[in-house]
Amino acid sequence: MNATAPDDAMIRLDNVAKEYPDGTVAVHDLTLHVRDGETCVLVGASGCGKTTAMRMINRLVEPTRGTVMVDGVDVMSVDFHQLRRRIGYVIQQVGLFPHWTVRRNVATVCDMLGWDKKRVADRVDELLDMVGLPPEEFGKRYPHQLSGGQRQRVGVARALAFDPPVLIMDEPFGAVDPIARDHLQEAFIDLQKRVRKTVVIVTHDIDEAVRLGDRIAVLRTGGYLDQYATPAEVLGNPATPFVAEFTGTDRTLKLLAVTPVESGALEPLTPDASSLDRVPHDASLREALALLLDSNQGKLVVEDQAGEPEGVLTLNGIQESLKASAA
Ligand SMILES: Nc1ncnc2c1ncn2[C@@H]1O[C@H](COP(=O)(O)OP(=O)(O)OP(=O)(O)O)[C@@H](O)[C@H]1O
Ligand SMILES: [Mg+2]
Repeated sequence: MNATAPDDAMIRLDNVAKEYPDGTVAVHDLTLHVRDGETCVLVGASGCGKTTAMRMINRLVEPTRGTVMVDGVDVMSVDFHQLRRRIGYVIQQVGLFPHWTVRRNVATVCDMLGWDKKRVADRVDELLDMVGLPPEEFGKRYPHQLSGGQRQRVGVARALAFDPPVLIMDEPFGAVDPIARDHLQEAFIDLQKRVRKTVVIVTHDIDEAVRLGDRIAVLRTGGYLDQYATPAEVLGNPATPFVAEFTGTDRTLKLLAVTPVESGALEPLTPDASSLDRVPHDASLREALALLLDSNQGKLVVEDQAGEPEGVLTLNGIQESLKASAA
């Protein structure tokens, strides 16, 4: 399958293949375009070629066939160091320098550019604040004095130092416990709302993909792209048996979590509306369903953007919303 986007693609992989010198073909023929300002998550089982595909974006892996363009430029035609400045990279195991403080780790790239001390210091403060690590508290620590999740955030701050338009992240939240992971994902979503980079994230966790991705690319062994679509589309309409299996038999539950209440599925307000539980307009269907099951009234009031009652939601409406989102 080929996944192309209109001309606003920041990253374009076109018919890209990678055969390693020992003959392993990690990626057979991959076409994938990522729109400017979107988060694309590459997801698939271990060994399916995710890391290989991602590393071709910043040329850490050179494709054996096809082209990779970033911001309109063929990555094979530009100076490697210049390319690294345009593409922030967060690797699987963070890769901080253990004998350097957090400040110095984050400052590396700015130092390399020869910025003056004041400018570097200001930028490091800004970056640490951005990832939720107050510089006065964390700046002087060494990596071993941080939790895994905090180290990960330092890695993100460092990758953002150049203010690159593109950020690529390989299993960035893989090494931490589920609660820390949840916080990091939330922090990433918040950060991305503010910085609006074009982001490619690799993960083998479908729940993470669904949560973080504007679009998710489901890869099958050999780097084949089975589906490239919004989380709702992938969960609601798996394109192949592999995608159906990979997204799991509980994909309807997952879909509930990423689908907002559809206003078309609401019923008119009834006189008893004032006694019903209420959910905000941007609540997910999962939240609405949980409340509905708890309330034992069989219906809820959905509020509009201003917080005023907009309509009544029943189980039937939840089903309608699900159908609409997967269509
Ligand atoms: N340098 C290499 N030489 C030979 N084969 C390699 C090399 N790097 C990776 N491969 C092979 O290419 C395939 C894809 O590897 P890749 O690291 O891209 O997978 P992945 O999807 O990122 O896996 P994981 O989820 O385990 O990180 C695997 O079969 C792997 O063994
Ligand atoms: Mg990998």
